[in-house]
Amino acid sequence: MKDRIEELKKELILDATKMSTPEEVEQFRIKYLSKKGAIPALMADFRNVPAEQKREIGQLINDLKAEANEAINTMREKIASGPDTSLVGIDLTRTATPLPLGTRHPLSLVRSEILRIFGSMGFTIAEGPEIEDDWHVFSSLNFAPDHPARDMQDTFFIRRGQDDVLLRTHTSSVQTRVMESHQPPIRIVCPGRVYRNEAISARAHCFFHQVEGLYIDRNVSFADLKQVLLYFAREMFGPETRIRLRPSYFPFTEPSAEMDISCMICGGKGCTLCKGTGWVEILGCGMVDPNVLRACGIDPEVYSGYAFGMGIERIANLKYRVRDLRLFSENDMRFLHEFDAAH
Ligand code: PHE
Repeated sequence: MKDRIEELKKELILDATKMSTPEEVEQFRIKYLSKKGAIPALMADFRNVPAEQKREIGQLINDLKAEANEAINTMREKIASGPDTSLVGIDLTRTATPLPLGTRHPLSLVRSEILRIFGSMGFTIAEGPEIEDDWHVFSSLNFAPDHPARDMQDTFFIRRGQDDVLLRTHTSSVQTRVMESHQPPIRIVCPGRVYRNEAISARAHCFFHQVEGLYIDRNVSFADLKQVLLYFAREMFGPETRIRLRPSYFPFTEPSAEMDISCMICGGKGCTLCKGTGWVEILGCGMVDPNVLRACGIDPEVYSGYAFGMGIERIANLKYRVRDLRLFSENDMRFLHEFDAAH
């Protein structure tokens, strides 16, 4: 008898978990509690239980009956209160604590803006390695063998010797790579990090970021360069911006120039930012030297081109008036949160 009750209890518990509709509850009731159900059947057999066990068995049967009634009542209440909506619309895959959104780095913002402006003029983006060799950083770009830039003072060498390995000092190396692998027309901008062996201070760092540009085709002239740079300056610093080109020297361009823009603080009248001159320098540029074209397998008798290069930190300093270059790489959240429009 005891075993029978145990068996029935197991079955009842299992059946109780399977109910969910009113019909299933009724079936459960019929199976266990109706006149012909399992529990009344037990009660009928109770008569045959020896007197000394009656107390114990009676208790077990009563417990079972209570259990069946409770299962039915719980289920009826559940059905009456409607479907379980407590988890509806809750995303159980979400992290318990919300992750705070970061902000975009000011240098990323400025780089995106520079790339957007040149992109709108048809320039595509080209990238290359930061660890370079002498050919791509210097020799192909017409640097003389004894040029001071090759000196340990300016360049980080990883290996010196016949085949130097070094950290690129400018992204002009990417221009070499593209010229070597593509025939004109070429119209690219090359963003990236560059390295120079400088003492770290508010005004210099051992690495910084550049965007350089290159355009090579038939009949490209200095006037084309000037117009593209004027458009860039006005997009970047506002429609009132004026530009001025001063003669300069780079091994890889001839003629070469440095470009100033009219000071965006004083509008050209003279202030502390422009040191009273009304102009601030923002980039270097020039017509690609025929020696460079030749070194990269492009015929200078057929093609000509211009190149320009600027430091992203420099542009960001002018745009946001950051006084200390080191702030860009220190990752102080108070500084970083000042830029992105989301904050
Ligand atoms: N490569 C030069 C620099 O790093 C910038 C530059 C690029 C100048 C192209 C002229 C033409 O300073």
